[in-house]
Amino acid sequence: MNKLTDDIEQIIITERQIEERVKQLAKEINNYYNGNPIIAVFVLKGSAFFASDLIRWLNMHVVIEFMSVSSYGRDTVSSGKLTIKKDVDSEVKGKDILIIEDIIDTGVTLSGLKEMFKQRGAGDIKVVTMLSKPSRRIVEFEADFTGFEVPDVFVVGYGLDYADKYRNLPYIASLKKHIYEQPNQ
Ligand code: PRP
Repeated sequence: MNKLTDDIEQIIITERQIEERVKQLAKEINNYYNGNPIIAVFVLKGSAFFASDLIRWLNMHVVIEFMSVSSYGRDTVSSGKLTIKKDVDSEVKGKDILIIEDIIDTGVTLSGLKEMFKQRGAGDIKVVTMLSKPSRRIVEFEADFTGFEVPDVFVVGYGLDYADKYRNLPYIASLKKHIYEQPNQ
């Protein structure tokens, strides 16, 4: 029987490191908002774990919203084109938005999302991401709050997937090469 952990090459960020960094990020975010209420946008699916851990440490009123988008930035030169698969339910006009992501890679998704909320008339728009891979950017984009910068290695766990698997690992790890080099296995 192939277990989840059999496919792991190396743990890159441990459960303990994640837990500590989440609390530090929450402190930074609490200081920034100073009690002002926000709408926290969970960008599905990857951010669900990080976002639900993070918002438990926030000290202001938080309305949660879920969004699901896909970007075609990796295949096209024209960036910022997002397809919305699931939109937020509430009116964002004039509201302060905190977009919560698991990873920023090319930057296309987040720059597109931020622009979309701007066009809808949201107030202050900030982005927090658990991970960032700066070396992969094709559009200039930096989050306002970043958990960890990681090199360009294939990472899974704590929400991050490969072929929709491995999200339920409690840590962030690299995957054995043969797994992603044989996508049908
Ligand atoms: C990941 C991640 C971001 C996006 C970042 O989502 O959660 O939304 O990719 O990539 P970018 O910076 O290159 O745009 P993904 O499309 O893998 O969906 P998932 O969260 O459902 O796994």
